[in-house]
Parts: sequence; C-alpha cells; structure tokens
Amino acid sequence: MLELHKMNLLIEEKIETILSSNNVTGRGLIILPSARKKYMVDHIPYFFRQDTDFRYLTGCLQPQSALVIEFTESYMKSYLLLRENTAYEEKWEGPRFGFQEATDFFGVDEVVSMNSFPDFLSRFSKDRMKLNMWYDVMSPRDEEIHANILEFIKTLGHHQNLNNIHPLREVLHEVRSIKSSAEIKLMRKTCEIGALGLKKTLASTKSLSTELDYLATIDYYSKMGGANFLAYPPVVATGDNANTIHYIAASDKVSSGDLMLMDAGCEYHGYSSDITRTWPVSGEFTEVQKVLYDIVLECQETLIKSIRPYETCIDQLYRLMLVELCKSLQTAGIIDEQEQSSALRFVHLYCPHNVGHHLGMDVHDCAELSKTKALLPGNIITIEPGLYIRKTFDRAPIEFRGQGLRIEDDILITDSGCEVLTNGCPKSRQEIEALINS
Ligand code: GLY
Ligand code: MN
Ligand code: MN
Repeated sequence: MLELHKMNLLIEEKIETILSSNNVTGRGLIILPSARKKYMVDHIPYFFRQDTDFRYLTGCLQPQSALVIEFTESYMKSYLLLRENTAYEEKWEGPRFGFQEATDFFGVDEVVSMNSFPDFLSRFSKDRMKLNMWYDVMSPRDEEIHANILEFIKTLGHHQNLNNIHPLREVLHEVRSIKSSAEIKLMRKTCEIGALGLKKTLASTKSLSTELDYLATIDYYSKMGGANFLAYPPVVATGDNANTIHYIAASDKVSSGDLMLMDAGCEYHGYSSDITRTWPVSGEFTEVQKVLYDIVLECQETLIKSIRPYETCIDQLYRLMLVELCKSLQTAGIIDEQEQSSALRFVHLYCPHNVGHHLGMDVHDCAELSKTKALLPGNIITIEPGLYIRKTFDRAPIEFRGQGLRIEDDILITDSGCEVLTNGCPKSRQEIEALINS
C-alpha cells in the first residue's frame, strides 16, 4: 500500500508533465471532479467505481469530490474538495477522511469542503479573462458539481466562447498511457491474478456444466487470488453464443462438443487485466476446431512478434491481423476468393472487432489516444485476434459454422520489443488439453 500512496503524491509532477508537453502558459485552472455515487433503488447503492482520471491524479476513492489546480508559470497550488464528515453518514456509510488527514495523505496543498464549492470557485474569478480553464465541459462526471462549474464559467464570461475551456481527458490520457514503474508492478499483479484465475477455471472444466458455473468459477478464483473484482462483465460463451461478441448473459448449458470462449479480467487496486482463452469443453479439440484455433493462435503470435517500440501503432497491427487471418482462411479453404485483395474484403465478416486497445486503470484505457500513434515503452495493450462463424453464416463451409474463438493477452511495450504479462494461462492446444484432462 505504501507504493500506491507514494505514487499519489506526484500530482504536481504529473500536472507539470501535462502542461509542458502541451506548451501551456499563463494563468490556469484545472478542475477535475470525481465520479458520483449511483443508486440502484432508494438508498441501495451500486458498487462505486472512482473516475480513473481523478484516481490517477489523486488516489482518492471518495465520491462527490474534486481536484482543483491553480497554476501560473512559476506557481502551482492543489486543492482537494471533499464532502464533510457527518455523524449520520458515518453511521450508515462508514468513516471518511478528515480534512487534515486528507491533506497529509493525498499530498495536496489544501482540502476544502464541497459544501463551499461555489464560494471556493469565486476565488478565481478575479482577473477573469486571463484565466485558461481545463475542464471536460462536454462530458461532466458529476451533474451537481457540473452545475456549480457552469455558474462559475458564466462569471468568467467563457460561456460565450467555450474555446477558452480546454478538454482535460485527452491530455491526461496521453500521460496515463505511459505506465510508471509502480503502475507496471500493479499491472503485472493484476495480469498474474487474472491469468491464474483463468487457468484454474480452465482446469475445472470437467466439473462445470453451465456458463454460469464457469462465470462463478472465474469470479471465485480471481477474488481468492487477491483481485478486488472482475474488471468487466466477462464473456462466458459456448458454441454459437461466442459469435455474439459482447455476450454476457451466461445463461446456457454447456454441450460437450462445443468450445468455451471466456473473456475475463480482474481489477487489482485500480488496475485491470483483460484475457481471453478458448477451449474444448470435452477436453479435446475436434479437427475443425484445431484448424480454427491454430489460425487464431498463429496470428496472435505473429502480431506480438511484429511489435517494435516507437514504430508500430495499433492501426498497423489491425491491418496485419486482417492480412494474416486472410491468408490462413484462404489456405484452409474457408474463404474461397483466390486473390488476396478480393479475399481481404471479407475478413471483417470473420473478425469484426479491432486487434486490441490500451489497457491500464480502464479496460479500454486511454480511449482518447489515436490508434495511429506509435507504441512507446511503458504502454500496455491487448492483442486479441478472433474468428467468428455463426451457425447461419452461409458464406463459410458448413463444417466450420457455429464456432467462435478469440485469444487475448496483455502486452507491455519495452525498450527492445514487448513482454507478455498474461503467460500464466497456457494457450497451446497441447497444454490446454492436458490441463483439462489432468
Ligand atoms: N474484454 C473486452 C475486450 O476484450 O476488449
Ligand atoms: Mn480486450
Ligand atoms: Mn477481453
């Protein structure tokens, strides 16, 4: 925990990186609200998940909070707005940070009560036209806090020209995409827990009979391994269900001749893994399943080997995935167009999703980053080719229909290439079969 705490004391350093890499000058104000607590019904809350940009900069997990940073070229001051403790709320929801405690723990200059947020903001309205504001005005995180900020923006006169208000997410994602050594340590851990949980689930195949059994098993092993929770609703799909990319119903019985596609990852102290394995429920791949599995695995391995830091971008990997899948589908006689150029037009029918995405605090991390940006050491991405052939997809030879497969690993970009962080779960056919039958 000490490591996490230290990481969060770097607010000013992180902000300085953002300001200098964006040539920001003059007097400025950054406002970053937290996520708001949401209720299922009446007083029953959903599990709270902190906004990841806010968590990245502050480490603070309390809802209805905000980080405000005032800066000039020679001065920076950080404020954390927190809700006050009341005896009533403490009784129902547990303790919150006291203000002095929060100042020390989060390493900010001043903690201010959220009750006085409008008054607090008015401190910054002097000399107002010269104030550059950084705030995601188009995608508010908390409606109540947003209403206060809009009032403040009116007093600045900026509401007539929203160009004076710079979006924050984009620049934060730029910084967040390069993981620090403390973050890489957490990513290694979440990938290790996720991969081991998936391996144990795979090894339990013979004792499981419904998709829900598999879902309960991955949830159990992830949490028993130390995860806080699953990072997203897992895809637990057998047979034709796997051809629905976002199948999360997990409501079917599992049939012996079918493949199981499980896409599951966990969250460990704010960092996510995202792993997919596909395996035969019977413990033995059929001939058709072998052909498809080898195409996907070979493609994934080729993609991983092709990664060059400072050169490769996600879009290039996507194009390479299409070419590799295309060649293999032609060789296997699944796509019968002879020319690659015409065959390529059909590959997206077999794999309709992208090759991968950045991974970190969010599963689809730093979504504002361009896919044409070269990958850099410290980036973490997924590589996840798949093949999906619905029962009703009559372009494909009949024997291949009804199979859906994906293999997904989490990859750290290094100075010399890359490192797979999710090797803890096997993916060769031989290892998978041995694991199920052991
Ligand atoms: N689990 C979501 C994805 O693989 O992108
Ligand atoms: Mn993914
Ligand atoms: Mn996934």
